[in-house]
Amino acid sequence: MHNDISEILFTEEQIADRVSEIGAAITRDYADAADEGIVLISVLRGAAIFMADLARQIELPCEMDYMAISSYGNGAKSSGVVRILKDLSSEIEGRHVVIAEDILDSGLTLTYLLKNLASRRPASLEVATLLRKKTLAQAKIDCKYIGFECPDEFIVGYGLDFAERYRNLPYIGILKPEVY
Ligand code: PRP
Ligand code: MN
Ligand code: MG
Repeated sequence: MHNDISEILFTEEQIADRVSEIGAAITRDYADAADEGIVLISVLRGAAIFMADLARQIELPCEMDYMAISSYGNGAKSSGVVRILKDLSSEIEGRHVVIAEDILDSGLTLTYLLKNLASRRPASLEVATLLRKKTLAQAKIDCKYIGFECPDEFIVGYGLDFAERYRNLPYIGILKPEVY
């Protein structure tokens, strides 16, 4: 285990199993759309690893597109301001869209993204989030696919960073408070 991590919350194996289950659920749920397939949209940079793994567990035609949004900068707290750093490469009008997010925390990012993408009139729009923090603020965001509920700690790994570090840890763990 990395020296800056106090506890591993989800191991590499637990994550792989859950991602595989979510992929199977998406494959089932969109079976009627097997001809046109779906568009997976990952929210850079945190969700890139989750989406890469999830896409390989979906047995449907699956386009992958990317949007870059940042609300946290390099700090440990959300700035409260969402910025689009990179928009989608393709149109999503009339498509079945699934947003892949690494974590739903305050809900600021997803609230913004759902509103923004809905205005482009996709055929359907759902969210797959690997992690969801149990806090009141995000309770009203409807996520069809949730990997794990997690405690309100500063967690890193499997895409999640602190100041751009720790994204490449294969597991998800709690960062020691003295590090941030
Ligand atoms: C993190 C995380 C989610 C978002 C969740 O992204 O990857 O996208 O915050 O927090 P929220 O629900 O409070 O909005 P961040 O803005 O740190 O950018 P990153 O993905 O590049 O790390
Ligand atoms: Mn993010
Ligand atoms: Mg971040």
